[in-house]
Amino acid sequence: MKYNFDELVQRRGSNSYKWDTANVDDVLPMWVADMDFRTAPAIIHALERRVRHGVFGYTKVPQAYFDATVSWFHNRHHFTIEKDWILFTSGVVPALSAVIKALAEPGDKVLVQTPVYNCFFSSIRNDECERIENDLVYENGKYSINFDDLEQKAADPKVKLMLLCNPHNPVGRVWTKEELTRIGDICLRHSVVVVSDEIHCDLVYPGHTHIPFASISEEFLQNSVTCTAPSKTFNLAGIQVANIIAADEDIRKKIDKALNVNEVCEINAFAVEALIAAYNEGGEWLEELKVYLYDNYKLLSGYFKEYLPHLPVLPLEATYLVWVDCSALKKTSKEITDQLLHEEKVWVNEGTMYGEAGEGFIRINIATQRERLVKGLKKIRNLYTM
Ligand SMILES: Cc1ncc(COP(=O)(O)O)c(C=O)c1O
Repeated sequence: MKYNFDELVQRRGSNSYKWDTANVDDVLPMWVADMDFRTAPAIIHALERRVRHGVFGYTKVPQAYFDATVSWFHNRHHFTIEKDWILFTSGVVPALSAVIKALAEPGDKVLVQTPVYNCFFSSIRNDECERIENDLVYENGKYSINFDDLEQKAADPKVKLMLLCNPHNPVGRVWTKEELTRIGDICLRHSVVVVSDEIHCDLVYPGHTHIPFASISEEFLQNSVTCTAPSKTFNLAGIQVANIIAADEDIRKKIDKALNVNEVCEINAFAVEALIAAYNEGGEWLEELKVYLYDNYKLLSGYFKEYLPHLPVLPLEATYLVWVDCSALKKTSKEITDQLLHEEKVWVNEGTMYGEAGEGFIRINIATQRERLVKGLKKIRNLYTM
């Protein structure tokens, strides 16, 4: 490998949300979704160049930013975007909040597929809308969609939007073209706009292909909004940059207005440089990263099979967030995560953060050096070995 993902980068003391939040020093953090790796060298160099310039006035987003975004999605995901469809903002969560504000009224309903990324809930709540849950079906160790339930819920005229998590955090699914087509058809039938959060689209593993929802058909393109960012892919969450892709002009104008009302319509000088370098020069680094992450996943799932076979690990099709079924422990997710934190000093996320449908599960972030991963696995084994 050209890049050294094994290097134990010291993050404690760097104002890291993941590492510096615990009030005990030796907690191993395997929770919040960022990675313990340095980003791609090309991004670091671009940021260094920008720092050396030393003037940090108001920033204009240049043509190169849009060109880099358009070619990344075209080359990587066969998704042809026009520059004019792109609205930039400071994160996918601010994007989701603006999209809901733009396309739903207070009191309207928004569909989500639970268990799902917890900030979907806060964005819906902050826009004074009501969340409607189309629980995913967990059967034979895999998640799928209950389309009858989705159709029935989408038929409620108060439902205006569906927040789709594609690929899905936390269950690790990459939705297939067939699944996405069924979702899209249901939403078209009931005039529900699909808001597809595709922040995890680049971290997809062998045997699976990310399909941008909006790339499936012209009708889906016009009836959807896609939210993307280089932040999960290149570990840039602290840089704060994201894009909203909206082909429909009316929808786009409404979102643009909401971004302005929320005052999240600017990005900073570093965000511009980081995105351009990531999308233009980060491809090779990303390919190696994916190999490393998937090897981590194989190590984890093998370890659980050997030492913790009563705790099934869900297949990981995308993301670096592993979903583990701990129902055999007959404890709540909160009891499990509290016990892991206080007795073994390893911090993972409790399943119920992602809705009631996550009860009995935990989410483990494996985007760390292998040495740290093994240390974390041993801690889990210490508590829960059969
Ligand atoms: C599905 C999903 N959307 C959005 C985010 C966060 O996006 P941002 O940091 O750009 O607000 C995350 C982070 O884990 C996520 O998993």
